[in-house]
Amino acid sequence: MEKFSLATDIYSGNDSLERLHLLKGETIFLVCDAFLPDTPTLKRILAQIDDSNEVKIYADVKPDPPLANIIAGVKQFVPMKPTVVIGIGGGSAIDTAKGIRFFGEKLRRQDIKKFIAIPTTSGTGSEVTQHCVLSDPENHKKYPIMEDFLRPDEALLDPRLVMTAPKSVTAYSGLDVLTHSLESLVAVDSNMITEGLSEKGVDVITHDLVTCYKHGEDEAARKRVHEISCAAGIAFSNAGLGICHSIAHQLGANFHVPHGLANAMLLPYVVAYNAEHDKTACAKYAQAARKAGLAASGMGDRVAVHRLINCIKQMMLQMDCPRTLQAFGVDAKDALAKTDVIVANAKQDATFPGNPVVPTDEDLAQIYQRVIK
Ligand SMILES: NC(=O)c1ccc[n+]([C@@H]2O[C@H](COP(=O)([O-])OP(=O)(O)OC[C@H]3O[C@@H](n4cnc5c(N)ncnc54)[C@H](O)[C@@H]3O)[C@@H](O)[C@H]2O)c1
Ligand SMILES: [Fe+2]
Repeated sequence: MEKFSLATDIYSGNDSLERLHLLKGETIFLVCDAFLPDTPTLKRILAQIDDSNEVKIYADVKPDPPLANIIAGVKQFVPMKPTVVIGIGGGSAIDTAKGIRFFGEKLRRQDIKKFIAIPTTSGTGSEVTQHCVLSDPENHKKYPIMEDFLRPDEALLDPRLVMTAPKSVTAYSGLDVLTHSLESLVAVDSNMITEGLSEKGVDVITHDLVTCYKHGEDEAARKRVHEISCAAGIAFSNAGLGICHSIAHQLGANFHVPHGLANAMLLPYVVAYNAEHDKTACAKYAQAARKAGLAASGMGDRVAVHRLINCIKQMMLQMDCPRTLQAFGVDAKDALAKTDVIVANAKQDATFPGNPVVPTDEDLAQIYQRVIK
């Protein structure tokens, strides 16, 4: 039996924030990204919230949310006894809100009524997933928490919110969407429903992401990428991910490589590895490449996968993304010395079992070492 869950009501469009009008007489704990305080964007969001609500803002959000920031938030959450939690920002802000909710509700022994996620990056899909990725900087570890109740009740997708993102954030978070699409496409729990979303993710990102990077004000392209980011989130939250994310989490924890960039560096090698070792994965990648128009309809699977891999590399070039740890500024010797610990921790990562091929330690080490220099 296959399961497909969709717990979140999704509202998309530049009027989607109007949903906030409906909150009346609530106690709202609002977790907002650190870039938001004092911006017109936050003012516009707060203007949608009726005066009958009590609102507390928590803005101490750090990329790859460290546990310490979650604990600081929980200390404010518990005495406030909120009825509604709103998370606004990139994946780190939404995950901070999820983490505070996760521990806060346990301590308070009382559930909130509603969780609303408002993404300002088109990337993680956290607005629809049951995942929350926290980090332990001292021990260089990232911990995904996966609980069904963490899926937000509502996701509000306003494409204008992503337009202020720096170019690098647009590129990296968009390449995270491509990784979600390609990993969920071949993941062990994929099915016809998730595959449709994954294939569409490959199509939209390979056509529209570079436009968003070069012409950030193109609202139509932004809307397509914002919606497909959410769709890819639905796909991977049901189908699973794979070793690209398992290793990428280690690059984030050890070298502070932004999540989407870490995935993008590894993705060409992971796609090549899975295609080489699993015929079904190879056929699925090839079909996605044909549907996205990256390969002709009569083209063989291997050639089509090759075209897909080239397209990923080409997009990274067009968006000025470093393709190795060394180009990102990591010392190659340090990176090489960490191979064993990175392989060991990647195998422990919650995304590891989703991969269609079970790699050996040597395979993982080889994939990791391809991105060192
Ligand atoms: N929960 C999930 O399902 C899930 C899935 C994948 C990744 N993640 C996690 O999400 C995090 C990455 O999230 P992300 O890629 O969205 O990046 P991010 O949230 O870390 O944001 C990156 C930077 O961009 C800034 N920013 C975000 N939106 C902006 C905007 N509109 N204008 C100006 N600045 C803006 C942020 O303040 C931050 O400095 C990682 O911790 C990753 O592990 C979670
Ligand atoms: Fe991701």
